[in-house]
Amino acid sequence: MTKLRELYRCEICGNVVEIAHEGAPALVCCEQPMNKLEGKTEDEGHEKHVPIIVENPECSCGCDEDICVKVQVGGTEHPMEDKHYIKFIEILTADKVLRAELKPGTRPRAEFCVNKEDIIEIREFCTVHMLWKK
Ligand SMILES: [Fe+2]
Repeated sequence: MTKLRELYRCEICGNVVEIAHEGAPALVCCEQPMNKLEGKTEDEGHEKHVPIIVENPECSCGCDEDICVKVQVGGTEHPMEDKHYIKFIEILTADKVLRAELKPGTRPRAEFCVNKEDIIEIREFCTVHMLWKK
């Protein structure tokens, strides 16, 4: 049974979906069940994926700086190449899912207007190494 906010991926076509209304017995794509993505939490090797909150002294989104959080993927920035990049970063609170969609050639960073104390989870999706969370 699907649960709210779960992410699923089709191993055949690479389709990724997020559950916005739970309760389906299964998700099917390309005529086979989709795999539920589990967020990894420990970096291995030289590439870093676990999202971190970095200082944000100059908020560029125009909000009150006190409630603006900047998230970066990896202590050392993750590559943002055409076939290997961070597709999105999400912040989950009790009643919101905030998603920043990223593109190759940009930095693996995003700003969110959210109180740090309200954050339940931060997660990101790498096109090669899948889901990571903090
Ligand atoms: Fe990666």
